[in-house]
Amino acid sequence: RTIDDVEALSDMSALNQETVLSVRHWTDNLFSFTATRDPGFRFTSGQFTMIGLEVNGRPLLRAYSMASANHEETLEFFSIKVADGPLTSRLQQISEGDKILVSRKATGTLVYDNLLPGKNLYLLSTGTGLAPFASIIKDPETYERYERVILVHGCRQVAELAYGERVVEEMKANEFMGEMVAERLTYYPTVTREPFVNRGRLTDLITTGKLFDDIKAEPLSLDADRLMLCGSPAMLADLRVIFDERGMREGNHGEAGHYVIEKAFVER
Ligand code: A2P
Repeated sequence: RTIDDVEALSDMSALNQETVLSVRHWTDNLFSFTATRDPGFRFTSGQFTMIGLEVNGRPLLRAYSMASANHEETLEFFSIKVADGPLTSRLQQISEGDKILVSRKATGTLVYDNLLPGKNLYLLSTGTGLAPFASIIKDPETYERYERVILVHGCRQVAELAYGERVVEEMKANEFMGEMVAERLTYYPTVTREPFVNRGRLTDLITTGKLFDDIKAEPLSLDADRLMLCGSPAMLADLRVIFDERGMREGNHGEAGHYVIEKAFVER
């Protein structure tokens, strides 16, 4: 089940109404928000669900990854704003106290069980593809399963990194997990269209080995390294080739593999 598998989502028509608790705008094109969570809504960190608004008496829904972890009491989402997007043109207007619709079910491929056991977990994202990984780096289970977690986030502009930076900072300051996260999570933001400390596309950073040099890691290994990918279709297609060439296998619900893939939400 992938993020654009409409058939899989059509059985998610049962909806909860939730209340928006906070909204934060990061750039002209990006915002995040939190909402109440129905106690019966269960998901695995990294999964997505359908969320949206009632428009003209009918639910208008899109697939969104939870950016909150499964143990959290509230839900969090990270979204783009598309001026003429049927949902996001409206969703970007929400404020505290507003109602949103959230499906009662969650699904998705970016879950631990779709990966073979390993030592290092690479979370490779571009744009709003960061969202499922915000969930995963907040989950204590991630650090039980992996010795090292590497969150890579590629964006065009520096300002687009702000939400991810905040999530990582908050986790490092977390009362219960902060020490472990500071020790075991490596955050690697990279920018392609203006100056920044790290520059370049994920694909180039991996094929040149620069990523591994910069984070002081060994080159990719079939035994040690597992990867989760979330971004644009082009980014996913190009990364897939790189990992397949190295003998890695894509995992899914039928069979665990070395890497798993999910398309980041883009409203057309
Ligand atoms: P670039 O600026 O070189 O296009 P987008 O907003 O288009 O999804 O891009 C988000 C980030 O992903 C940008 O930094 C962009 O780099 C990068 N990107 C776009 N296409 C690919 C690709 N095929 N492989 C790797 N990175 C990509």
